[in-house]
Amino acid sequence: MISYTPTSFSQGRMDFTWEELSEEERARAYADWEAGKGLIGGDPRKRPNAHLLPAWGLNLPFFRTLALDDARGANGAALRDLLASDRPLEIEIGFGRGDFLLDRARRHPDRLFLGYETKTKATRLMLARIQRYLLTHNSAPDRTEIDALLRSCNLWVSDDDARFSLPRLIDDGRVEMIHVLFPDPWWKREHKVKRLFSPPFVDLLAAKLRPGGLLHFKSDVHEYGELVRYLVEGHPAFTPHDPNLAARIGEAAPTHREYWCQLHDKPVWAYYFMRK
Ligand SMILES: C[S@@+](CC[C@H](N)C(=O)[O-])C[C@H]1O[C@@H](n2cnc3c(N)ncnc32)[C@H](O)[C@@H]1O
Repeated sequence: MISYTPTSFSQGRMDFTWEELSEEERARAYADWEAGKGLIGGDPRKRPNAHLLPAWGLNLPFFRTLALDDARGANGAALRDLLASDRPLEIEIGFGRGDFLLDRARRHPDRLFLGYETKTKATRLMLARIQRYLLTHNSAPDRTEIDALLRSCNLWVSDDDARFSLPRLIDDGRVEMIHVLFPDPWWKREHKVKRLFSPPFVDLLAAKLRPGGLLHFKSDVHEYGELVRYLVEGHPAFTPHDPNLAARIGEAAPTHREYWCQLHDKPVWAYYFMRK
């Protein structure tokens, strides 16, 4: 079982507000997106050795989009094969501690899961949890065993910014469900460009979800939820929010943030949109 530890979450500022976007603001959002503005950690193409995996990620279910061809590890080949299979694919963006995703991958061994979390430390901690809960092997597996092990693992994680990785790694129409749970609201005007939800981000979600696929969003900031509803419902590829779609997810573990909200009696807003 996953155990919970005390947390340092605070409610943060709740004065998040938004207004309908003008044409000019929409155009700016696309221009910023094209220029790679707001990517967490900057443009990964400019990082030294971007084509290499870190030593700690070699031969584990870890990936970086620019390092898929790093031949020192079996990572890239195994992930490519898994993505090319017809296993239903679910993606979580910003998994944090990973409670929701790990639970989901254990409940649904037939599905493939990818998790993005730009905090490298949190990604490494998640990798350790995956090793503990999902991988079992001899102490010194050989290359064939590593290959088999990686191909049998249904949960892979990355510290890439999902906005950079998804367009480059995932075929259009490949994804069954995308989970975005308690993303940072980035309420300050100067930080807005880091906020996940924007018109080009919704285009990206629409492109990657298969027809009938599900977008699952939760937040404890109601205004952020309403911004997401405005952006997604205004997109021609999505149906309006329908709480009945929650049944497609079924029983699931709360994220760390959601657990904190439950503990402190804070309300949470959930939204479910279907890709037409
Ligand atoms: C407020 S935390 C919530 C974590 C977790 N979902 C939960 O509910 O406990 C949001 C997380 O999203 C991650 N994040 C923000 N933007 C991201 C992006 N573009 N790609 C991947 N992760 C991102 C942040 O590093 C942060 O850990």
